[in-house]
Amino acid sequence: MASAAPPPISSSLWRCPRGRVRCSAEHQGLFSRIAPVYDKLNDVLSLGQHLIWKRMSVSWTGAKRRDRVLDLCCGSGDLAFLLSQKVGPDGEVSAVDFSKDQLLIATARQDLYWKACYKNIKWIEGDALDLPFADSYFDAITVGYGLRNVLDKQKAMKEIFRILKPGSRVSMLDFNKSSSSLITQSQEWMIDNVVVPIASNYGLSKEYRYLKASIAEYLTGKELEKLAKEVGFSEAKHYEIAGGLMGNLVASR
Ligand SMILES: C[S@@+](CC[C@H](N)C(=O)[O-])C[C@H]1O[C@@H](n2cnc3c(N)ncnc32)[C@H](O)[C@@H]1O
Repeated sequence: MASAAPPPISSSLWRCPRGRVRCSAEHQGLFSRIAPVYDKLNDVLSLGQHLIWKRMSVSWTGAKRRDRVLDLCCGSGDLAFLLSQKVGPDGEVSAVDFSKDQLLIATARQDLYWKACYKNIKWIEGDALDLPFADSYFDAITVGYGLRNVLDKQKAMKEIFRILKPGSRVSMLDFNKSSSSLITQSQEWMIDNVVVPIASNYGLSKEYRYLKASIAEYLTGKELEKLAKEVGFSEAKHYEIAGGLMGNLVASR
């Protein structure tokens, strides 16, 4: 496959060249509806901790100055901004999401929190299941709270493996589907009694109620490690963080 140079749909937002993004319209709609309040709710619901976990996730990629990196399922761009600082103005950051509304928030934040290195970020509207990049293209990839929401997880992992350079790493942060019933019960209690009631103040209770089912249907750390090995990664290790409420898979190609 040729190296991609997608055409712009606004000054800093690019659309995947393969025509209409194929995806679950329902999921796309959900993320577009929560886009305006997504950052605020992340700050409130995690008491600001999500930025610490995101910094950890980025450092696990091993990304360094001048690298070419990807933030997949970038949403409003937290991980892309952190990657941008890591690789510096001579590096390149691609940030892909299938929700145009999330990407528009990301571009607005890029203008608002202006830093010289942020010019290295290219926002791309695209599908994690069909990525518009050549094989062995990236030095590092992050996926924050993304794989859990992708319908075909194995296909997404295969795509990530394909576009990573040999020896490079993907770091995937998400809720941990714990094998401990205590942790699962705490997570469920928090979603029912804290997350959904707060989200309902913004008219988004249905959207955040989805979280509980999506974690229940997700993969445990061991299953994520197994999936990564199955698609070809040479090493895969899942770390539990935040007392086991969150998890981060690090896989090396
Ligand atoms: C929970 S948000 C996470 C955003 C950001 N990574 C973060 O950590 O704050 C999940 C994002 O994944 C995106 N997403 C879900 N499925 C996708 C797919 N198949 N292709 C591209 N993006 C997808 C959604 O649009 C949404 O912005």
